[in-house]
Amino acid sequence: MNVIAFVTQKGGSGKTTLCVNLAVAAEAAGGRCLILDMDPQGTAEAWYHDREAASPKLVKLAADGLAEAVAAARRQGFTHVFIDTPGRDEPSVAAAIRIADFCLVPCRPTPADMKATPATIATIRRLAKPAAFVLSQTPPRGFRIKEAEIGLAVLGPVAPVTVVSRNVFQDAQGAGLGVGEFEPGGKAAQEIDELWGWLVKKMEKMQDGTQKNIA
Ligand SMILES: Nc1ncnc2c1ncn2[C@@H]1O[C@H](COP(=O)(O)OP(=O)(O)OP(=O)(O)O)[C@@H](O)[C@H]1O
Ligand SMILES: [Mg+2]
Repeated sequence: MNVIAFVTQKGGSGKTTLCVNLAVAAEAAGGRCLILDMDPQGTAEAWYHDREAASPKLVKLAADGLAEAVAAARRQGFTHVFIDTPGRDEPSVAAAIRIADFCLVPCRPTPADMKATPATIATIRRLAKPAAFVLSQTPPRGFRIKEAEIGLAVLGPVAPVTVVSRNVFQDAQGAGLGVGEFEPGGKAAQEIDELWGWLVKKMEKMQDGTQKNIA
């Protein structure tokens, strides 16, 4: 079982969006997925509430319930646990990073988001966790993406898939769906599938011990 945490103290950068969409993509690819919503705002929980499908399953919890929830997921045969965390650097974020096998750090290509990442990366480094940035809510193309990639690469690995800003992410969220369900085969769905495919390969390599990718 793999545990993936979505972390960055910058609010609105795309943690919840990536978390629920990758969980839906992982289920569609044959996984059994559990989302753990650690954000008191409950954005992922609200999405789950609006959702008709029973999977991926979602449980809302605080830091003191995390270890038991992950242990229970392992016993129950889940293949992946996705942890959505609050947009502040607080104990629950460190707890999520500590228990994760891999941390994804969404970042918009803006100075404000990029300035906020070092604090999150410091915690990831302290806990020696594999991690990667994901550029989120980007323009479809242009120099901003390249500049952000170069800036972030100084701090750690950057996922090779960029998630473009598209209305379908907001529409799907409002409908309790993943973008692949709301607009099958659309560009957003393709990006999410590619990002998931990249992450799966990354985690397989880590488990083989053939690659170390510590931010
Ligand atoms: N790729 C995208 N395209 C368009 N809108 C997006 C995209 N990613 C996220 N959004 C929108 O941006 C807003 C913030 O995204 P999200 O809730 O995922 O961020 P967050 O990091 O979880 O924020 P918080 O720190 O408040 O929990 C939401 O309204 C979401 O629908
Ligand atoms: Mg959120």
